[in-house]
Amino acid sequence: MTSSAKSRKRVLSGMRSTGKLHLGNYVGALQNWVRMQDEYECFFMVADWHALTTDYADTSRIKENSLEVTLDWLAAGLDPERSVIFIQSHVPAHAELHLLFSMITPLGWLERVPTYKEQRENIKDKDLGTYGFLGYPVLQAADILVYKADCVPVGEDQVAHVELTREIARRFNGVYGAAKAVFPEPQSLLTPAAKLPGTDGRKMSKSYGNTVMLTDPEPVVRQKLKTMVTDPARVRRSDPGNPDVCPVGDLHKIFSDKGTMAKVNEGCRSAGIGCIECKGWAADALVKLLNPMQERRKKFEENPRLAWDILEAGTERARKAAGETMEDVRAAMGMSLGYEGAK
Ligand code: TRP
Ligand code: SF4
Repeated sequence: MTSSAKSRKRVLSGMRSTGKLHLGNYVGALQNWVRMQDEYECFFMVADWHALTTDYADTSRIKENSLEVTLDWLAAGLDPERSVIFIQSHVPAHAELHLLFSMITPLGWLERVPTYKEQRENIKDKDLGTYGFLGYPVLQAADILVYKADCVPVGEDQVAHVELTREIARRFNGVYGAAKAVFPEPQSLLTPAAKLPGTDGRKMSKSYGNTVMLTDPEPVVRQKLKTMVTDPARVRRSDPGNPDVCPVGDLHKIFSDKGTMAKVNEGCRSAGIGCIECKGWAADALVKLLNPMQERRKKFEENPRLAWDILEAGTERARKAAGETMEDVRAAMGMSLGYEGAK
């Protein structure tokens, strides 16, 4: 680690091992992570243990999914020279700290977490009445605090988890009050939530089947855009439309340049352009974004071992950083290894 790395604030974030990523994952998180590498000392984690909390019954795809996530990260521009890219399940300190935190975390804190209640109600095909699922946010707190991260870039849905992380940090520091607090209280850095619609106009999500994948080749991107829903008021070519209520209009706002945006605004409202043409421009913008990623991905796709090597090297670095924190944790709790004599 260089000395400049020491003075930079530390960031940790993660994604569950869900397989190939889509544009929503990119806009909602990954794009932001890529930018943060310039300013922060970054740790990016493939959260395969977190994937287990809901998908414990079938682990047949989990390793493959972790690799797919890693490939998309590297394709998007996460840089192993600048950032620590690693896999959670091979840094055992996460589990150790999770256990210690579980001793001091009141059940009520966990039962109150909004995602807990929501998912218990919404996910009916799996039994989520498990200890591990309830403890999900405690594991997340361990993920963050084992690196003493200062900042956690997350979307809106994860803010409650970072809040709980701060509460756990505060409690640990209070209970095991050493002269110096062991843990910082990390802040969430909210990713400005661009509303990214999928092809059916609902939020882009794997479970809706309305995604554009980062790996979709150009013809697939163009085809998906062709069938995308538009302003429902624009039935005929001669009807004027409104890009502000059109999912394709939303895509333009996120991905198109000012000139194209102006043409869309003017042409749509005056019925000067057709939706097919407008969708073509949106597809152009997406292809322009995805092309360089797919170029970068090729090398790793042809030789996935390269990506695993990156993950393994990152995991080694993560273990070292996590190990340093665990020394402090044990010392604060009076449980360091080594004989200290009778008290
Ligand atoms: N829970 C996060 C999600 O579902 C993933 C995650 C696990 C995470 N550990 C983390 C995110 C630590 C930020 C920090 O998206
Ligand atoms: Fe939507 Fe474009 Fe059609 Fe307007 S012209 S309704 S913005 S697809």
